[in-house]
Amino acid sequence: MSDTALSDLTSDTITDAVLSTLHGTKDARLGEILESLVQHVHSFVREVRLTEEEWAKGIEFLTGTGQLCTATRQEFILLSDVLGVTMLVDAVSHERRGDATENSVLGPYFRDDRPRRPDGADISEGLPGTPLYFEGQVVDHRGTPVAGAGVDVWHSDGDGAYDVELPGRTDPAMRALFVTDEAGRFTFRSIRPASYPIPGDGTVGELMRSTGRSLMRPAHVHVLIEASGFQRVTTMLFPADDSHLGGDPVFGVRQSLITAYDTYEAGTGPCRELTDERYTVVRHTFVLEPVPEG
Ligand SMILES: [Fe+2]
Repeated sequence: MSDTALSDLTSDTITDAVLSTLHGTKDARLGEILESLVQHVHSFVREVRLTEEEWAKGIEFLTGTGQLCTATRQEFILLSDVLGVTMLVDAVSHERRGDATENSVLGPYFRDDRPRRPDGADISEGLPGTPLYFEGQVVDHRGTPVAGAGVDVWHSDGDGAYDVELPGRTDPAMRALFVTDEAGRFTFRSIRPASYPIPGDGTVGELMRSTGRSLMRPAHVHVLIEASGFQRVTTMLFPADDSHLGGDPVFGVRQSLITAYDTYEAGTGPCRELTDERYTVVRHTFVLEPVPEG
């Protein structure tokens, strides 16, 4: 394309002109992604006949989304979640076989500064709530225990609040990194999480209100597992009796991730020696997929 081909552009010629500027992209995959992105964005503008005011509103929305991002809040990931992009990327990236544990969304509340805790630790850090005893095991697709797997867990309190949302609290709570033992097991004590609204005070909240969607997520415990030779699993476990399972705003619910949060009265059940309160037990086996060869 000659130099003059980039001037006097019209709505009919500008897409090809922009695409022509990408031909020198050295990274072939980057070139493929950018070309497709330009084509889709241009098609979108033509299809809806985007006005200048709407374009400006879109820029303002994305700018506001970026400005909300901090070390403890990721509004762009939340935006990706509520638009179904996060789960779509997972779906096209992973083919889970058989009973391999399925992924869900990472969500906006993961923190790098979580503590490494020993097996059986109480990660509630003294926060009030219904005691929760979690017993996990990590195995491979043949059922063989995976020892030495890093297992991150994090969740909300009984009011649906994460540690970063608790006024005056800066230290991590209700989150920790564990390492599985020789039997692939990890256990911890915490407090039972509750359903909660995704953050509604930012750009994503504005989007959700504009479209009449519920902010409420079903309760869950986040689990992220990494082990050498296996695909990373980013998932969460939902209680089977949660009333919000059918309308998750981030599309993260999978039937295989709905599990029993067994509740026992004080003095009964498997952990009666450990607490004098009513408590909940969650047991789950996580099945890892090996990294594909090649
Ligand atoms: Fe969450």
